[in-house]
Amino acid sequence: MIERLKGFRDFYPEDMIVREQIFSTMRRSAKLFGFMPIDYPSLESMELFRTKSGEELLSQTYSFTDRGKREVTLIPEATPSTVRLLGAKKNIPKPVKWYCIPKLWRYEEPQSGRTREHSQFNADIFGDASPIADAEIIGLACETLNSLGLKGSFEVRINHRQIMERILNSMGTRNITEGLNIIDRFRKETRERMIENLAGNLGSKENAEILMSFISEKVPASGADDRIREFFPNIHSEKFSENMSETVSALESWDYSDIVFDPATVRGLTYYTGIVFEGFDREGRYRSIFGGGRYDNLSTLITGQEMTAVGFGMGDAVLENLLREKNLWKIETGPNRYVIITIADEAQKFSLKLAGYLRARGIEAATSNTHKNLSNSLRSATANWYTHAIIIGKKEMESGKATVRNLSTGEQKEMDTADIN
Ligand code: HAM
Repeated sequence: MIERLKGFRDFYPEDMIVREQIFSTMRRSAKLFGFMPIDYPSLESMELFRTKSGEELLSQTYSFTDRGKREVTLIPEATPSTVRLLGAKKNIPKPVKWYCIPKLWRYEEPQSGRTREHSQFNADIFGDASPIADAEIIGLACETLNSLGLKGSFEVRINHRQIMERILNSMGTRNITEGLNIIDRFRKETRERMIENLAGNLGSKENAEILMSFISEKVPASGADDRIREFFPNIHSEKFSENMSETVSALESWDYSDIVFDPATVRGLTYYTGIVFEGFDREGRYRSIFGGGRYDNLSTLITGQEMTAVGFGMGDAVLENLLREKNLWKIETGPNRYVIITIADEAQKFSLKLAGYLRARGIEAATSNTHKNLSNSLRSATANWYTHAIIIGKKEMESGKATVRNLSTGEQKEMDTADIN
């Protein structure tokens, strides 16, 4: 047998049913916040990602030259395609709020919560530069997790790229992108290695130690400005901390309150220009559940038009780990699902008519047509998540009634077909 590729996943119905529930919660939350759905190809021109997504992501693409000699890639993230769609229709009145749930591909080292193919819920607002738009985006991510039953199980870490850039500049960085990339690895590297890398970037071990102390601690979001002033009194980042605090108060007014200021959250992607944020499980055991930020320059790079933007991406893999751990990975009980089991050849016509009758009334009704062994058919019915079996034989055909068996209790009764619901 040919095996599945490493880092990819198969989904059988027992998991796919739960995944569909999760995706519909995501869609429902997006709709609640007024977002509209979009979609785009899984394959895009490589150019769309070059110089925009950053070195790390570029090195992870599944890219190749197609038969027409074009350099193409399976999309590793949703944001550039979303921006491309917006740029291609210049006269859409702004602001716009869009969401999508594409599959994405990244050649990463597979581990728990990290796969080479994942589905990602993305939501973005274009043409609204206000801190309230930032709050709507973070709020939607929080609302989605709350609706999945994770209220109180996660925290949102926020920071601001402009603040970090000012700090790095004030400390003599030789390269801001490199400095941010080093900080981004804070929770993955040893302290010694962090100091060594930061000292290389800042040209001073002393500054590296100061920056390291600053990024080592998360504080409540309301304390962000004090924390920055305490460490860096001269960087004048008040405007940015005010923006962040406006975002945080909007979130608190909606009761999304687990927000902390975390200077180590800078995000790996290069295009962010303002607030950046990541959602983590409270214990900090998994990688980020979602991440995003403001990226006001990406549109200029891709489409040549200026367009402010803020958004997030939420992957399915970490979410699955967390939901399983919290016992929330469960098939929800929904409406009854019937399978009509015909146990006599001559009753076939009656069964088919009944299936058509139930379906016309919007009731889920499958047919089971092997006609041989009732107990096998019942076992298969239970394994396929039907709630009830309708057993049709000669007797039922003659009486015009149906024998309905509840598959979880085993209870069986004769019913008028009009009473089945
Ligand atoms: P990202 O942080 O690269 O951001 O990914 C967002 C989320 O996708 C992560 O928090 C994680 O849940 C999930 N994810 C990423 N890579 C993997 C992987 N290899 N396996 C499983 N899950 C993964 C972005 O992609 C940005 N484009 C998000 C965004 C939208 N920014 C603005 N708008």
